Amino acid sequence: MTITKHKPVKKAVFPVAGLGTRFLPATKVMPKEMLPLVDRPLIQRAVEEAQEAGIEEFIFVTGRNKSLITEHFELQPEMVEALTNKNKTDLLERLSHSDLPSGTLMTTVQQKALGLGHAVWCARKLVGDEPFALFLVDVMTLSNQGGCMKQMIDVYSKTGGNVIAAAEVPNEVTYKYGILDVESPSNAVSPIKAMVEKPKPEDAPSNLSILGRYILQPEIFDILEGQKQGAGGEIQLTDAMQTLLKSQDFTSMTLNGKHYDCGHHIGFIEANIAFALQDPKFGPEMREILKNYL
Ligand code: UTP
Repeated sequence: MTITKHKPVKKAVFPVAGLGTRFLPATKVMPKEMLPLVDRPLIQRAVEEAQEAGIEEFIFVTGRNKSLITEHFELQPEMVEALTNKNKTDLLERLSHSDLPSGTLMTTVQQKALGLGHAVWCARKLVGDEPFALFLVDVMTLSNQGGCMKQMIDVYSKTGGNVIAAAEVPNEVTYKYGILDVESPSNAVSPIKAMVEKPKPEDAPSNLSILGRYILQPEIFDILEGQKQGAGGEIQLTDAMQTLLKSQDFTSMTLNGKHYDCGHHIGFIEANIAFALQDPKFGPEMREILKNYL
């Protein structure tokens, strides 16, 4: 396979087959990706971010108990009829944002949650020989410069290759994230020299973490095909990207904005407060309510 630099990114992959154990018992039956961030599920926010970036095809890597996720993007005729009869145009408008156009939502099954790298590999047939955007749905971002993926597509239009969104984290928590070693740490956009999954703080090359948004070239699938288990016994995407780095360019883009790790309770609660505060509908009331607690 040859890389065509700057080939447009029109497909996005959303791995949603994880077990969500940190959110138990809330996620015993309900997928983590369906937890609502203020007024809509995490997965809908990720899909809207993709749409804003020009993505036209949406590939969900699903597993057991995940059918609610695809159902969420289907037209609900009874609901539409009930709202139409009651003349609830505002609600109808909001509901319409979760209906994906026919033929644009695809699913593939990851039979066992063997890790993020394995989940991405499960999308290989649906992605084909094209660059693709990858979204970790439990990371949400807020920025007044457009969504994280839109910022990345702007970078990609200049650099081509692979692009990874990054954010600084406290040194002592590098063991929780994929960490980047970049050529120009003081620049928001920089070539990547190396990456390592969940290093101990003393081994970490920097405190620049991989945020959960990627633009990847399809050659990653060839590497994932033979990828061995890495940190935590999982098939790690970071290990495969580190191999691809030997033959392709990787660029890091430090997000212009804030990111929230919605994969654990406190991060999710903080995200709900931050997203509610910046929402014109909920912000003013939320600000008043918060005063009671501070
Ligand atoms: P996480 O690392 O947050 O794992 O995955 P998880 O299973 O969802 O949650 P915990 O750690 O048990 O609480 C990040 C994203 O990658 C997906 C998850 O669904 C989540 O959206 N994922 C992870 C898969 O699709 N398959 C996997 O094998 C692992």
